[in-house]
Amino acid sequence: MAKIIAGIGSSHVPAIGAALDNGKTEEPYWKRVFSGFEKSKEWMAKTKPDVAIVVYNDHASAFSVEMIPTFALGCAAEFPPADEGWGPRPVPVVKGHPALAAHIAQSVILDEFDLTIVNKMEVDHGLTVPMNLLFGQPKDAWPCPVIPLAVNVVMYPPPTGHRCYMLGKALRRAVESYPEDLKVVIFGTGGLSHQISGPRAGLINSKWDKSFLDNLSKDPKKLTRIPHLEYMREAGAEGIEMVMWLIMRGALDDKVDEVYRFYTVPASNTAVGHIILENARKASGTGKVAGKSRRGSAGKSRQAAARKSIHRIASKGTR
Ligand code: DHB
Ligand code: FE
Repeated sequence: MAKIIAGIGSSHVPAIGAALDNGKTEEPYWKRVFSGFEKSKEWMAKTKPDVAIVVYNDHASAFSVEMIPTFALGCAAEFPPADEGWGPRPVPVVKGHPALAAHIAQSVILDEFDLTIVNKMEVDHGLTVPMNLLFGQPKDAWPCPVIPLAVNVVMYPPPTGHRCYMLGKALRRAVESYPEDLKVVIFGTGGLSHQISGPRAGLINSKWDKSFLDNLSKDPKKLTRIPHLEYMREAGAEGIEMVMWLIMRGALDDKVDEVYRFYTVPASNTAVGHIILENARKASGTGKVAGKSRRGSAGKSRQAAARKSIHRIASKGTR
């Protein structure tokens, strides 16, 4: 059985991609940003997922105002980097996983979430920047296949946070009904608070962002009740990208271990947020984040409780 073992939240600021592509990572401004992802790259290198589902938004690269799917699942064999105005980013072509993607499409659509199936698509910074932050800068190939899930957060009306959270749950059911043993990680990307145009351009709300991250870990259902207007008011017009993190969160256990968090202000005009959440009953083989780990004895006793409850369910024969 395939299993989602962990979720990763990460901002996808395009200037981060430009800093990588133009060799600026050692400049103090950018070092502050990249240093927050060093432990995450170690975690990812140890975790070695077989597949990554990357929830992101297209920024008028693959789609335009002519056609705006609310949820679009990438089922192709590959997804080239898009030209966003300066030529395609010098990153490897993203290889897909058409068999798992087709299975997810069938499972999720029959589960009454009407995804758009996309068999040809270029991917922009929304997907490639978080890939770099977690997988580094491979020259020829990314270390695992990727299933892109593009969400409309660009043109009104985007989906609600609750819809996103419930879609995460449907994705999990889809993955868990795939017969092959695969370790899957899921990314939620975008945010955190930012507004890139208009009188409030440059808006950043660290207090709101940090409370979002706290609740993402501990009380995600509370986040599902945040209306669009609150995202706009508190986190800026583009802060609405944060609903995508709720798809990632919905695909995880109700109780998770927060193994890493990073927050810095600013990158370009944007607050950068990052979190790694592991399912307490994860498959073996995930790498632990050394150093800044937030896992404490509470996490360990949750794991023990989870193990006990698995035992209880198994002995009742309901599993
Ligand atoms: C910017 C663009 C984005 O898509 C984003 O998520 C953050 C920042 C920008 O243009 O700076
Ligand atoms: Fe964006």
